Order: sequence, then structure tokens, then C-alpha cells
Amino acid sequence: MLITFEGTEGCGKSTLIRNLSRNLEALRIPHIVTREPGGSIVAEQIRYLILHHEMAPLTELFLYEAARAEHFHKTVLPALEDGKWVLCDRFTDSTLAYQGFARGLDIGMIEKLNLMATGRRKPDLTFFLDLPVEEGLSRAQDPNKFEKAGISFQKKVRKGFLHSIRKNRNRFRILKVKNRSPDQVCEAALRVLRNFL
Ligand code: TYD
Repeated sequence: MLITFEGTEGCGKSTLIRNLSRNLEALRIPHIVTREPGGSIVAEQIRYLILHHEMAPLTELFLYEAARAEHFHKTVLPALEDGKWVLCDRFTDSTLAYQGFARGLDIGMIEKLNLMATGRRKPDLTFFLDLPVEEGLSRAQDPNKFEKAGISFQKKVRKGFLHSIRKNRNRFRILKVKNRSPDQVCEAALRVLRNFL
């Protein structure tokens, strides 16, 4: 199973993934936790470049896709072939939302690049953590360049995710985060997994 986690900034993906991983360990379900951009030696170096430099939108897109191709072939695919579950913090839907809807690059081109970078493998399940962008941004400590871009940028990102959800209803599960504790969000995700299986 390839399970991805998406959302706007500060929605609590990392906490959920950590909590889910603990639960999967207790259930003795072999899995890895990884992230994009990053998750392999080369991809982590590309991550550093992307997050610490301003660059042309197209450069940014190609770097995300290069990091993805590397991460997919070095980390994700070997784990899946080993029979492990892969929990991935952000994946192809983030590129559509950030580089497509927020940066304004061509959606069709991004969809093609996403398919190329992942050898056409799509996630089996994608959790979208739903939190108003204002609330997420106010949680951000040490903001990265996308968080610094502000509320109107994040609103475009959110629109992008809603577009992906509409186009991929079978794959997406929406988890409400507002007014819920991390434990409640994790319980909701575990319920989804039980039903899915
Ligand atoms: P990170 O600090 O990990 O943010 P978060 O905890 O919100 O995931 O930085 C990753 C940033 O990269 C995040 O702001 C979203 C952005 N991103 C893209 O713009 N395009 C992509 O394809 C991916 C995977 C991430």
C-alpha cells in the first residue's frame, strides 16, 4: 500500500504520520515513513535547494519532479516490492496544488511529469487533512518560503487540493482537523484504514 498525506501548511500531517506509524508498529504491519521532497540521499539534497532558494517556477517544478523520481525509485518502490506499506508525507497532489494552482504552471504538463516520475504508480489511498489555511499558517514556527507566501497563496494551494479530490474521489479520504486533537485525527485515520482493508 502506498498511502500519501496531503494538506495545506500546518495541518498536522507529520504528527498524524508519527501516530499512525506507532499504531502500525503495534499491529506488526511492516512499513516505512518517508517524505517529499526528500526521502533519499539525492532527494534530500534537492529538498535543501528548493526550500532555501528562490527560483523560477519551472525550475522549482523540475526539481520537485527530479527529487520524486529519485525518491520513488530508491525508496518507495523497493519498500513496496518488499511488501511494506509506505506512508509518504506529501506526493504528486502537492505538485499540482503548489506548482500548478498556486504558481500557475500548466496542470496538464504537471500531470504528465507526475506520471513519469512515479512510473505511473498512483497512491492507493490519500488522506487530505482539512484545516482552514488561516489556522494552519498561524501554527507555523520557522516558516518556509511557501508559508511566507501568505494566505492568498495558501488559498490557491487549497483550491488545487480540492480539484484533485474532485477528480479522484475513490483515492481520497478527507480528515477534519479543526477542533480535533491529534489522537482523534489518528483514530479517524485508523477507522478509514480498517474500512479500506
Ligand atoms: P515542509 O517544511 O516539509 O512543509 P510541510 O511540513 O508543510 O510538508 O516543506 C515542504 C514544502 O514543499 C511544503 O511547503 C510544500 C512544498 N511542496 C511543493 O511545493 N511541491 C511539491 O511537489 C511538494 C512535494 C512539496
